[in-house]
Amino acid sequence: MKTVGILISGRGSNMMALVEAGIPVGLVASDKPDAPGLAWARERGIPTFALSPKGIGKAAFEAQMDAALRDAGCEIVALAGYMRLLSDDFVARWRDRIVNIHPSLLPRYKGLDTHARAIAAGDSVAGCSVHVVTEELDAGALLGQAEVPIIPGDAPETLALRVLEAEHRLYPQVLKEFASR
Ligand code: GRF
Repeated sequence: MKTVGILISGRGSNMMALVEAGIPVGLVASDKPDAPGLAWARERGIPTFALSPKGIGKAAFEAQMDAALRDAGCEIVALAGYMRLLSDDFVARWRDRIVNIHPSLLPRYKGLDTHARAIAAGDSVAGCSVHVVTEELDAGALLGQAEVPIIPGDAPETLALRVLEAEHRLYPQVLKEFASR
């Protein structure tokens, strides 16, 4: 299986699910030096990269992150709650080797607030999608999806928890297959 670099901005529960599923993780990188997931990774001896783009700019930030990923032997980049748009240049340098998990059944509800939008639309089913990252937001080829029911009375928060559990099953399963290609 190819070595994976995981990009996070926050709690990193999907990153934890990937690590715990035995995916070979070469680096956990974050644009938020205080991201809780970074400490979790460090405690487990996983190499980490933490740098804020503030002050140095996006190009310099991405160049350093790119170098750290390559130095760590990563061949695939997995976004797991990474809250910044990657530049076209970064996407091109990792063409077809960046994947993301998105909390909706794409192509429905690209972008933010997916759960609130699914509930507001009266959907009875929600879910999550793993897809290849391209220059266009949440639009690359789908690698896998999982559905969960929307239950009457669901709030965005309760639905988000149900979808998150599905994410933790789907992402390791899809990434294992992708990293074994
Ligand atoms: C998840 O809902 C994921 O689908 C989205 O951002 C959230 C990240 O959560 N892209 P976590 O940091 O993995 O806990």
